[in-house]
Amino acid sequence: MNKGTAWVIGASSGLGLATAEAFAADGWLVVSGARRFGAPLPSTPAAGRLHTLPLDVTVPASRAAFVDAALAISPRVDALIYCAAVLVLGPCEHTGVQEYERVMQTNFLGLVSMVNAALPIMRTQGQGKLILFSSINGLLGIPYQSAYTASKHAMEGYAECLAMETARFGIQVCLVEPGDHRGGSQHTRLHAACADADNPYAASCQTALGVIHRDETGGLPPQMLGQKVVRNANRKRMRFRLRVAKPDQHLAVLLHKLLPARLNFRILTDYYGKGGNT
Ligand SMILES: NC(=O)c1ccc[n+]([C@@H]2O[C@H](COP(=O)([O-])OP(=O)(O)OC[C@H]3O[C@@H](n4cnc5c(N)ncnc54)[C@H](OP(=O)(O)O)[C@@H]3O)[C@@H](O)[C@H]2O)c1
Repeated sequence: MNKGTAWVIGASSGLGLATAEAFAADGWLVVSGARRFGAPLPSTPAAGRLHTLPLDVTVPASRAAFVDAALAISPRVDALIYCAAVLVLGPCEHTGVQEYERVMQTNFLGLVSMVNAALPIMRTQGQGKLILFSSINGLLGIPYQSAYTASKHAMEGYAECLAMETARFGIQVCLVEPGDHRGGSQHTRLHAACADADNPYAASCQTALGVIHRDETGGLPPQMLGQKVVRNANRKRMRFRLRVAKPDQHLAVLLHKLLPARLNFRILTDYYGKGGNT
């Protein structure tokens, strides 16, 4: 007997994969979607509960095929966990509108479409949990991550509206706000032009990218995050915000709330501009 059915979207690598595995290990039936999955997991009881389906969240026909195939595996959706994201790194001035569109299509509009696919099923069930992977970048800006930051800020505002509108149907919403975690596959990471030496942002952008890379590779383990997401999903009343980060990133969020904007900008600009050594 499964604990429930969870759709995990963007589950072929990093935090999504760890979260899908954690739900399966906890006894949920998991239907995960992504564009390309690696080798199947070794055959264990948990792996037997983990189904993988092809899904490109930016393509309507792919989303519809995923929903049909998922409902053929299980007619329920007790939890939808949305982890799919791409990251564009580069200065605002040299990040083109097409790059912003690409990030919004995957990180925000794909999310909206998948939530809209799950909501009628959850309303009929009279219950459901929508677990949306935001980021610390959903709460504050970081230099050279404007497209990603914009998409995560959009998600934060959307989730508040969603939580208020759907509570009457027994539906709960959670924003997962990870700080740096190991994960982040290279094929979902796009660089806007900034390497060119003539580019006025080149030196500062390259330094910031080095800090971002260093902080992620030294980040928290994805498995721990997956287990925390499962524990929250198992609660009768989920926490709306689940922030999982190192103490310095919790502090950055607190300072962002308390300090004047210009002081915050100076702290973050120094951190990313001096190679993370402030
Ligand atoms: N790692 C961190 O430090 C960190 C920090 C804060 C927040 N987060 C958030 O956590 C989530 C996972 O991040 P991650 O670092 O683990 O990244 P990741 O390893 O790059 O995983 C991204 C996932 O999104 C999927 N994806 C991308 N485009 C897709 C599309 N068009 N259709 C379907 N799936 C798509 C990828 O699968 P395919 O490419 O196979 O489709 C992959 O499974 C993201 O929402 C991210 O914003 C991560």
